[in-house]
Amino acid sequence: MSCNILAIESSCDETSASVISDGKILNNIVATQSVHEKYGGVVPELASRAHQQHLIPVVAEAIKSSGIAKSELDAIAFTRGPGLMGALLVGVSFAKSFAYALDKPIIEVNHMEAHVLAHFIDAPKPSFPFICLTVSGGHTQLVLVKSALSMEVLGETKDDAVGEAFDKISKILGLPYPGGPYLDKLAAKGNPLAYPFPVSEMKGLSFSFSGIKTAVLYFLKENIKKDPNFIENNLEDICASVQHTLIKMLMQKLVKATKEQGIKEVAIAGGVSANSGLRQTIADAAKKYRWNVYLPKLEYCTDNAAMVAMAAHFKYQEGLFTDLNVSPLAKLKI
Ligand code: KG4
Ligand code: ZN
Repeated sequence: MSCNILAIESSCDETSASVISDGKILNNIVATQSVHEKYGGVVPELASRAHQQHLIPVVAEAIKSSGIAKSELDAIAFTRGPGLMGALLVGVSFAKSFAYALDKPIIEVNHMEAHVLAHFIDAPKPSFPFICLTVSGGHTQLVLVKSALSMEVLGETKDDAVGEAFDKISKILGLPYPGGPYLDKLAAKGNPLAYPFPVSEMKGLSFSFSGIKTAVLYFLKENIKKDPNFIENNLEDICASVQHTLIKMLMQKLVKATKEQGIKEVAIAGGVSANSGLRQTIADAAKKYRWNVYLPKLEYCTDNAAMVAMAAHFKYQEGLFTDLNVSPLAKLKI
């Protein structure tokens, strides 16, 4: 029996739709919202409005390019949370109305589980159980993935997400928004050991990324007193040192989690998994610790509907449909 699912993602600032057929992703249409750039961060109200504008054309393109008729869809999937309430409402309301009009079932998807399940879009796929370090603009989590439908958060950040730290520090350095990718490029040309920033000491498998932002701010203030052009003159070294410290904090806990769980299957997911320094460090750790590592394709690192479609595919197999009276949950947990 064939199974075609249309999936919608609208949790933050990417409006995306994807069609999956028998577990194979047919397309992944993403409309990025450039409206937030001039504000240096996502403005929730503007994100909701941009989703309203982009969603219908994005869905129409996904359906058209899939070659699958609307009547041949077996379910409509959507991100229920976590995310921005207004942004989620647009996707959830659309998915419900569309499914109601077509008389098809709906499938709710947890955005964080979807990031993890992006690893099942293409080979090589991790075997269960594996540990996934999910690093994005809103989250930093170590997840024990027992199966596609059973995950446990082993540890997470107690304050800022690591992507937030990348973006806030980039903003202090005068880089465009979102700063993560810009900082990454500059870091590649700098000396990671030029400036030692403090590594937060957190218990167990918890993370903290708010301290480094403040440390960088004070460090820059002190140095600008001596040299007004300190940032411009040392930008690459500053970026490399910041990135090195953030990666060190992530790796300490990832290594600890794998040792505690006795697991050598290791994956990374989320927007920050696109970071070239993190990808290289994980590849090096794979050799050192004899891990099998799984790095997502760049298009599946940042928010996209293909990962939502993949997660929905697993739920469809188990008949895990959602009632039409569902509403979004901004703080939906794994
Ligand atoms: O997963 P995502 O698209 O959205 C959330 O769910 O948050 O992640 C976006 C985050 C942003 O903080 C962005 O700066 C960061 O991922 N990011 C990067 C890189 N590419 C995206 N951070 C560091 N290096 C990169 N190459
Ligand atoms: Zn995300």
